[in-house]
Amino acid sequence: MLTNKTVILGITGSIAAYKAADIASKLTQAGAKVEVVMTEPATKFIAPLTMHSITGRAVVTDMFDLASQHTIEHIALGGAADVMVIAPATASLIAKAAVGIADDMVTLTVLATKAPVIVAPAMDVNMFANPVTQENLAKLKARGFIIVDPEYGRLASGKVGWGRLADVDKIIGTIKQVLGRSGDLAGKRLVVTAGGTQEPIDPARHIGNRSSGKMGYAIAEAARDRGAEVKLVAAPTSLPQPAGVEVIRVRTTVEMKSAVAKAVAKADALIMAAAVTDYQPRTTARAKIKKATPGLTLELVRTPDILGEVKGNFLKVGFAAESEDIVVNAKKKLQNKQLDLIVANDITDKKGGFGVDTNKVTIISRDGKVEKLPLLTKREVADRILDRVVGMLGKKK
Ligand code: CTP
Repeated sequence: MLTNKTVILGITGSIAAYKAADIASKLTQAGAKVEVVMTEPATKFIAPLTMHSITGRAVVTDMFDLASQHTIEHIALGGAADVMVIAPATASLIAKAAVGIADDMVTLTVLATKAPVIVAPAMDVNMFANPVTQENLAKLKARGFIIVDPEYGRLASGKVGWGRLADVDKIIGTIKQVLGRSGDLAGKRLVVTAGGTQEPIDPARHIGNRSSGKMGYAIAEAARDRGAEVKLVAAPTSLPQPAGVEVIRVRTTVEMKSAVAKAVAKADALIMAAAVTDYQPRTTARAKIKKATPGLTLELVRTPDILGEVKGNFLKVGFAAESEDIVVNAKKKLQNKQLDLIVANDITDKKGGFGVDTNKVTIISRDGKVEKLPLLTKREVADRILDRVVGMLGKKK
């Protein structure tokens, strides 16, 4: 989705400026045209040559260098850009942008551009907490700027607190979200579930499954990139939180059921990619079970069927984790759970199942159409599923 998109990357004078190289590199690798503008102080932290080498494009630092054709083009470029991102943004940049001062290449481009502007602050803890900075950020937000909040952690000053530049992947995720605003899922609300639910046996142990959550997360990110408002109900996973997606964390099937019931109010579609544990211990021991006896019998009872029981007027997409008779079993699930679409995967296929980044699925619709897909990345599978969701949502109207 970043292919051929023009991203203006504004860099200001913070120690975190070196991270802008990573941002530029990831954007360039994803196919974006990255136009770098830097303030004079920023050039003390990272060389324009570094940014030029990464992006393959001229870097503009001096607003008075009007002899340079590129600088003039750059001011015009503000109008043509798809998005501008300022990372890192210092307190000074934020203050100037809030009142419309344009006295360096970055603030000048902010004023000149019609593109959405993303601001990723990075500064010392006290500067960030200062009410003036907070007021300035609030002003920018009110004017439609998108702020990627800094993180908590160790700062260059040695202090620990809020002020570290947000994670690079979070900044890139926000860029994708902003670019996706006009995608084919714009204005649609999607609820996606991911990961494997866990049913506690005692405070130390649980019944679970091998789901990594990757398929559900890929769907949530793909839907975000296509403009949807996404709620991700996530059972425990080790995956990073996707930017621009509301994540609701749950552990057990019962918790997931109530989170889904709440999230689907006003939803256009529910995609249940979670691997839901089918049985839970009848009781959970309050203390850790000691290995006193030679054997142990656990009494298990069925968990609720979230997808089968959820009510509402939205598209229902299920997954079918199968190890045999894939299409036949998936069709039965589609029928029993009254789904619009079911995505069946063979969990015995090592390249297309638990933990890996690829998947080999068969998509079956209510009208009986069976579409067998080749081995694809989970992100590609996510987009193929969403293509179908877009088609069905169109017909629903
Ligand atoms: N699912 C659910 N609640 C459950 C079990 C499954 O909502 N208690 C959902 C899954 O998220 C998936 C679909 O139902 O989208 C099918 O899940 P799967 O585990 O393949 O099937 P089950 O219904 O559990 O049937 P079985 O385990 O007998 O194959």
